[in-house]
Parts: sequence; structure tokens; C-alpha cells
Amino acid sequence: MKSDSEITQLDPALLPTHVAIIMDGNGRWAKKRLQNRVKGHEKGADTVRMVVRISRETGIRFLTLYAFSTENWQRPKTEVSALMTLLNRFLRSELSEMRQNNIRFAVIGETGRLPDSVRIEIDRTIHQTRDNDGMQLTLALSYGGRTEILNAARALADSVLSGKIDVAGIDEQSFSEHLYTSAMPDPELLIRTSGEFRVSNFLLWQIAYSEIYVTNTLWPDFTKEEFIEILKDFQGRERRFGRVGTE
Ligand code: FPP
Repeated sequence: MKSDSEITQLDPALLPTHVAIIMDGNGRWAKKRLQNRVKGHEKGADTVRMVVRISRETGIRFLTLYAFSTENWQRPKTEVSALMTLLNRFLRSELSEMRQNNIRFAVIGETGRLPDSVRIEIDRTIHQTRDNDGMQLTLALSYGGRTEILNAARALADSVLSGKIDVAGIDEQSFSEHLYTSAMPDPELLIRTSGEFRVSNFLLWQIAYSEIYVTNTLWPDFTKEEFIEILKDFQGRERRFGRVGTE
């Protein structure tokens, strides 16, 4: 298979441990075809399946996908409800694949705002994949980076008021431990589809040093070949973290 040979061209030692993706362009994909936006999301869900499979095959350990932002609640009710239905369908259809492929499932965001039917499916998927350690697939659902940071600030302020920690004890590590992503490394690579140069309130704290790759491809058109090309591009970048280069 073509993708297999392309995957072997990747250097496992230089793979990003954590890849985060802003999946954008479903609506435009549908509009171009004079179809309902929901058709774009449906096709986008197929791309999600492909990206999960390729990530697992390449050996990426953490994949985090921005599936629904806190701002997305403002979309028309019919679109929100179609996205929730798609999500339920995705979780039901992918559970056996996740179990077979040793993938642990996780969610970040204000899950309390999601409909009960989605919460039940999420809990089931988390529970049934909890011992898997091949890769972690995290969906950001009802997620907003600023809210996440505010919640961490509030929790730390509470700990100071109750005398559990000193103000001086608040550092990057303790702050990170109060984020939804406390058990994950920061993403080394952030991919955004559909050509927009925006971060859109995604993982604001965690992407401080991430390499960013923006592609014009609309999410439903994103292919495994392009995904692997982006991973190769990442392997060619020199990551300096604010220091000088190595030569
Ligand atoms: C952006 O496209 C995408 C979303 C708001 C949601 C992402 C959802 C999916 C990929 C499908 C379902 C997800 C899963 C996990 C099964 P947009 O509607 O903002 O596109 P536009 O900017 O072209 O309008």
C-alpha cells in the first residue's frame, strides 16, 4: 500500500509525540458542492477515521482533535444537533477499532454541556478503552482554551485561599497540572486545515512551542498522503525553544 511505504519513510525517532489538529473547512467543502453543511461534517468524520488510523500506524502517541468549540454552540440548532448525532455515530462505530488497535479515548472540554446521549457514549468509550496504551485519541468537545486557563486559575486561587499552596508555589508545572491536558505532553505539532491562520481558542497554553502547519486543504479533502507529508515536513524543522541553533 502506498501509505505503508510512505510511513516507513518517516523517522520514528523524530515523530511528534503529540499532534493536535484544528479540523476546519467542512462547511466550505459542502458549499462548493451546493450541499448542506452537514454533508461536509459527515465527510469530515471519515477524515477523522483516516487520521486516527494513520496516527496509530505511524506511532504518534497522542492525537488531539478540535471537534467542537465553546463558540460552536452558537451555530444553528440543526447543525449542532447533527454534529452531536455524528459524534455519537462515530463513537459507536469506532469503539471496536479503538479496542483492537490499543487506543485510549479521552475528552477535554466542558462535557457537562453536551447532551446526555453523547455523555453516555463518551463515558462508555472512555471506560472500555481505559487500559489501552498504544495511543491516546482526545476529542476537544465544547472546548475553549481561555475557559480552561480560567478554570485552572480559579482552582489555584482556591488552593491558595485554603492554605494548600503558597502563591510562590504557582509555577508552570502546577499550572499545567490544573489543565484538562495535565496527563499529556504539549503538542509538538499543530495542524490547521482550510487555510486560516488562526488558533481559534485551541490549547492556548499548550501550544506555546508547537510547530504550526497550515494547509489550504479543506478538512473533508485532507488525505493520508498529505498528513504524512506534513509529518515529514515536521521532521525537517529545527526546534529551538527560544535558544540558538545547533550548528
Ligand atoms: C469546522 O468546519 C469543523 C467543525 C466545526 C467540527 C469538526 C467536526 C467534524 C470533523 C465531524 C465530526 C467529528 C467527529 C469527531 C466525528 P466548519 O463547519 O467551521 O467549516 P467552514 O469554516 O468551512 O464553515
